[in-house]
Amino acid sequence: MVRDERPAHLGVHRTKSTDLDVVTVMDTRSEELLRARLADARSDDAVLGEEVGLSGGTSGLSWVLDPIDGTVNYLYDLPAYAVSVAVVVGDPTVPGAWSPVAGAVMNPRTDEVFHARAGGGAHLLTAEDSRPLRVATGEDLDGALLATGFSYDREVRVGQAAVIADLLPRVRDVRRMGAAALDLCHVAAGRVDGYWERGCHAWDVAAGMLVVTEAGGLVSGLGLDEPASEDMVVAAGSRLHPVLREELQRLVQGRPRTTPPS
Ligand code: IPD
Repeated sequence: MVRDERPAHLGVHRTKSTDLDVVTVMDTRSEELLRARLADARSDDAVLGEEVGLSGGTSGLSWVLDPIDGTVNYLYDLPAYAVSVAVVVGDPTVPGAWSPVAGAVMNPRTDEVFHARAGGGAHLLTAEDSRPLRVATGEDLDGALLATGFSYDREVRVGQAAVIADLLPRVRDVRRMGAAALDLCHVAAGRVDGYWERGCHAWDVAAGMLVVTEAGGLVSGLGLDEPASEDMVVAAGSRLHPVLREELQRLVQGRPRTTPPS
């Protein structure tokens, strides 16, 4: 529906947190469709969706939905957007109080479905086949291709630009593709070596986080043993992850430069 029924002259329906944080009619329609399907199949579960918010349940499971991740790409018809669906245990509104048990991220423009089940591995399903996903294994920041994203808040972007200015000359390159859920899945597939972003919400990352960890990678916040949260998501293979996390910690918190572990 998101792909096939996209209006030719799609416009901004409304804005949310800032003037840059847009919603289209299709974000709303996609979430309504997901909610209707879940109400039929899983009526006791809670649902947290980007556009509608939280609807309570009794089972202890919550579905965390991003009906269109990469809405700005979708608005411009750039083919890098996704529908992200995860089911989590715990409270998805409290950072660190939930963990995903299954999730899927679909890019309807490439017909790729990245999916994972806790303990069951991560896979990429296409029209041709299904294959297991594995993160890249490098540990070298110099040679790392990284992905990131920017806030919808223009002020926050000033700090994000400073981090990029420091990191960019010291890595292979940095991509800003515009859909956090896909960025995480690209880490899982080894299409980028690592990803970081500040300001992501649970619906942006819940499914993609599980896809990364089930593909052998690590996902955390800024501090050692800190869970990923709105404050920071850092994802990479297990050898690069500590190097990237420490660099970001230094850059974000203004800590003295530390030597990356060899
Ligand atoms: C956004 C995208 C973007 C990221 C933002 C997210 P949305 O999600 O994932 O790449 O930089 O942090 O909010 O608004 O398109 O669902």
